[in-house]
Amino acid sequence: MTDLGDGTRCLHAGLPEPVPGDAFLPGPVFAAPYHLDPWQGQGSSPNGYGRPDNPTRRLLEAAIGELEGGDCRVFATGQAAITGLLLAVLRPGDTVLLPADGYFPVRAFATDVLETIGVRVVFVPTAGPYPSLEGVRLVLVETPANPGLDVVDVAALAERAHAAGALLAVDNTTATPLGQRPLDLGADLVVASGTKALTGHSDLLLGYLASRSAELVGAVTSWRTVTGSVPGAFDSWLAHRSIATLDLRLARQSANAAAIADLLAGRPDVTGLRWPGRPGDPAYPVASTQMRRMPGVLSFDLGDADRVGRFLTASRLVAAATSFGGTHTSADRRAQWGDDTPPGFVRLSCGVEDTADLVADISAALDAAGPA
Ligand SMILES: Cc1ncc(COP(=O)(O)O)c(C=O)c1O
Repeated sequence: MTDLGDGTRCLHAGLPEPVPGDAFLPGPVFAAPYHLDPWQGQGSSPNGYGRPDNPTRRLLEAAIGELEGGDCRVFATGQAAITGLLLAVLRPGDTVLLPADGYFPVRAFATDVLETIGVRVVFVPTAGPYPSLEGVRLVLVETPANPGLDVVDVAALAERAHAAGALLAVDNTTATPLGQRPLDLGADLVVASGTKALTGHSDLLLGYLASRSAELVGAVTSWRTVTGSVPGAFDSWLAHRSIATLDLRLARQSANAAAIADLLAGRPDVTGLRWPGRPGDPAYPVASTQMRRMPGVLSFDLGDADRVGRFLTASRLVAAATSFGGTHTSADRRAQWGDDTPPGFVRLSCGVEDTADLVADISAALDAAGPA
C-alpha cells in the first residue's frame, strides 16, 4: 500500500483480505487459553495462550507496522514499550544516551533502575550538541521532544550512531508515523506511546515498538512474553479502529495548531511559543525537511501558575488535562508533573474542533485571564 495516500493507508492498514460475510475489522477475540489439537498440542495453531498470542493484537501490529515501515510489537503502554526496549537491549556496563528534555518518566526509570543495575546513562538535550558516540550501545531520542518540542536530525544522528557501532531508537509519539518515518531515516528502532495522537480518542493506553531487524524484534518479543506487558483484546481492537481516522484527525489538529501558533505569536502577553511547523521556530529547519506533517502540539509560557489557572477556567473548549493528541483540545501546566519547566509553561494539544471556534475561545480566555 506504499503507493497510496495517507488517508487510504490508515483506512486499510492491517485489515484482513475481504471475505464475504465477514466484518471489515474482525471483532476482538477475548481468550486466555485457546483450544489445542489434542495430539499435536502447542504449535498446532498460531494461538496457544493469550500472553504471547492474540489475533486482534496481531492485526493491530500489522496496521502500525505498515504505517511505520517495520515489524511491530504492541505493549500495554508507551512506558512498557520504552522500558522493555531499554531492558531487552542494555546490559550492565553498557552506555545509553537519553534525552535530557524528553518524557520525564523515562529519565526517572534511567536513574531509578538502569543506573542501579550498572548501565551508564548520559542525558543529552534533543537539539544537541551530541557527544562522541564511541562505546555507546543505544541512543534514544524523542523528536519532537515532549514537552519542549525541540527536534534532532534523525538521518545525521543515525549515520553517527552506526559509525560508532551504536543503535538508534526514536520515540515517535508526538509525530506519529504519518508525521515522520524514523526507520526510513535510518533509525534501527521506533518506540512510541500509542495513547496519544495515533489512537487519539483519550480512551486507551498503548505502546509499540517497530524495527526492520528480526534480531531486535525477536529480543523484544521474548522480553514482552516473559514480562507480560500486553494490551488486552478490546483495547487493541479500539486502537485499530481509531487508526482508520488518523489522517483526518492529524490534518485538523495540525491546521488548528498553525492557527493557534499565529494567534499566540501576535500576543505580547504570551512568551516562549514553540511549534516546529512555524517558520522562525528553532526546530523549523530540521522539522520541515525530515517531517511529513506537523503535530497538533505546541507550547508557550503564560508567566505563572495562577494565570494558567485563570486561562483554563475562562476557556470553554480547552480542557485542563495531561496527555496530548486527543480529539478534544487540552492544556497541561507541565511543572505540576515534575517537568523541568517554568511555572507558567503550558503544553497545548489541539483537538479537532472547528478552527475558528478554537481561535475565538483561546483568544477570549487569554483576555479574561488578564496579565500575569
Ligand atoms: C514522548 C512520550 N513517550 C512515551 C510516553 C509514555 O506513554 P504512556 O503514557 O502510553 O505509557 C509518553 C506519555 O506521555 C510520551 O509523551
